[in-house]
Amino acid sequence: MIIYREETKSFYLSGKHYCYLMRVDGSGRLQNLHYGAKIPSDDIAYFIGQIGDPVSRELVDLNFYANERIFSECGGYGRGDYRSPSVVIERKDGGIMSEFRYVRHTIEDGAPALEGIPHVRCGGQTLIIYLCDVCSDAEIELNYTVYDDSDILVRNAKIVNAGKQSFCLRKAFSFCVDLPDNNYKILRMHGAWTRERTPEITDLGHGIVRLQSTCGASSFGIHPFLCLLEQDCREEKGVCYGVQLVYSGNFALTAERNSFGTVRLSGGINDEQFCWKVKGGENFTSPQALLCYSERGLGELSREYADFIREKIMLPKFAFAPRPIVTNNWEATYFNFNNEKVCALIDEAAKLGADTFVLDDGWFGKRDSDSSGLGDWFVNEKKLVGGLTKVAECCKRSGLKFGLWFEPEMVSPDSDLYRAHPDWAIHKDGIKPIRGRRQLVLDFTRQEVVDYIFRAISDILRSNDISYVKWDMNRFITECYSASLPATQQGEFMHRYILGVYNLAERLTSDFPNVFFEGCASGGGRFDAGMLYYFPQIWTSDDTDGYERAKIQWGTSLCYPLSAMSCHVSACPNHQTGRMTPLSTRGAIASLGGSGYELDISVLSEEEKNACKEQIAAYRKISDLMLRGDLYRLSNPFSENYFCEMIVSKDKRCAYVVGEQLRAIPLPNTRFVKLVGLDEEKLYRIEELNLTASGKTLTFVGVPLPNLQDYESFIWHIEEVKHDC
Ligand code: GLA
Repeated sequence: MIIYREETKSFYLSGKHYCYLMRVDGSGRLQNLHYGAKIPSDDIAYFIGQIGDPVSRELVDLNFYANERIFSECGGYGRGDYRSPSVVIERKDGGIMSEFRYVRHTIEDGAPALEGIPHVRCGGQTLIIYLCDVCSDAEIELNYTVYDDSDILVRNAKIVNAGKQSFCLRKAFSFCVDLPDNNYKILRMHGAWTRERTPEITDLGHGIVRLQSTCGASSFGIHPFLCLLEQDCREEKGVCYGVQLVYSGNFALTAERNSFGTVRLSGGINDEQFCWKVKGGENFTSPQALLCYSERGLGELSREYADFIREKIMLPKFAFAPRPIVTNNWEATYFNFNNEKVCALIDEAAKLGADTFVLDDGWFGKRDSDSSGLGDWFVNEKKLVGGLTKVAECCKRSGLKFGLWFEPEMVSPDSDLYRAHPDWAIHKDGIKPIRGRRQLVLDFTRQEVVDYIFRAISDILRSNDISYVKWDMNRFITECYSASLPATQQGEFMHRYILGVYNLAERLTSDFPNVFFEGCASGGGRFDAGMLYYFPQIWTSDDTDGYERAKIQWGTSLCYPLSAMSCHVSACPNHQTGRMTPLSTRGAIASLGGSGYELDISVLSEEEKNACKEQIAAYRKISDLMLRGDLYRLSNPFSENYFCEMIVSKDKRCAYVVGEQLRAIPLPNTRFVKLVGLDEEKLYRIEELNLTASGKTLTFVGVPLPNLQDYESFIWHIEEVKHDC
């Protein structure tokens, strides 16, 4: 709901449990008055009438420091507010000071459809506030999209050059909001290859906490998500504010606590080395940020993000569609396969009950190792005699769908593509390019490069019956430079690169609407809401170890739905950690997402094959719960000795619990796991334990935890008595 009151020049925006109050002050500044609990809209008078003009012009004139107390919605530069600006505009004469003033606003139905960049697909109601810069010809449009049934507030900004002379945008953040100081803690997620998204909570402290990526992708290192927590905020109680970006390139998110009691949250495209030329009459659109307020802890925040991403970001066709149960040959064969091996895997996969076979890296060009072939998107007939048609035939015979791996953004120096177009690889003349996994990155800022790759991949998809694509990206960007851009626009490179990626993803997903795309970047190196707009699922990590994966998926679930995570059972000893974990545990953890198998199933024992078969059949039964249900995290593997998560259907009739003992304890205390999310009034039955109890008992007393060995797991199917899940 959006309400504007002319008497007070105030805006009241509200969602399910929050409201967001702003007003235009006496000197035309757009101030935030409140972001948090949903207070009655009439209480705007409390902020204005009772407290008075928080920072009047007179006060600022009298007291210079008052500038830094203003709760601004768009931070300027060089006019007395020394917090981080959200927009920096450099004019021809080098002047960069800016101060933004309200001009007008409109309220529209729906959400803005941003061109060339992922965005929420439906809305809601949008408030557009137009500001002008008193120091330049820039105008800014701040977009706020709200939904009555969601606690996500969508924000972004459009910067318009209303003058004749071009200017350079040195910073164009998507949002800025100032909150009163509340001694917040801050949650961020850090990581690396094979240990993505590790949550870390620290005190916010004073100064700036800046999370950013500079590698050309949302990255392994720091995730484009942060959360401010009040000191007593826990999993299921307390107040927290989250923000994540619908963006996959270099980002920055900052939380700045200044000496006058404001906490400025802001973020968008990373402004380091960023510079975007905006000609007179043109504009620049920043990516969207998804802000979320929760007064029921981190759990509720995660559930809000999960609902929002699947309902409003993912492709509607796939958002709630059962995830393909995949067998993938990567860890089974690596580059070493031929028709026989592949067909044997397909036959076995069909016997287990999988529905899709994905042929991973190595099927194209001269690709027998990672030292050659990327960019040559035609089948390697030496390896696969009879080409992809033969593999497709095997799939068809076994009743499986056929999926294929691509790494569209890359080129091997040893490839026909590179020999024909060495200039298409990102490089700077005179500087030897750094190779990553022996490969170079294609210059996706150039339309002809994107067009070529589009045609090459389209040809393969069109001439074979492919229903699944795994889109990988196995190195980050160096020598950020494009000979196709003038010197003054090299600062546009990184953003233009990701726009090129989006352009290809948009064209492929619209031309092949029935193909299910899975994202990947050496595992979860580009796992973000931007990618989820095109790819309903992303390979969460190259680490499929039954213990590490539980932690990675726990972290990822903080701001994404389970269905966004691609989760496979792989071999033991695990290829990344060497650890042994039971097959049942690997299956249980892999059931908390889009499930599959990534091991040589043809060499499994009969007993193991039967176990996989049972896992697949059981997974199909909970698939709908995983796709649509609510996640409750019960025991944190980072701080507890066991992992436990639970999914509850929206109607509270069915639930599914997965737990894993991390380290076995001799003679353990009797421990209970208290279930969350059930209806206290309903009567439930836990199938595996043959136990019946009320939701109230299961919530407040809990269920005794089984006594398990290292990495052993348990699964409980729970249903309301007299209901069949
Ligand atoms: C990356 C992916 C793997 C696999 C290999 C193939 O590492 O994350 O799943 O596809 O590339 O080279």
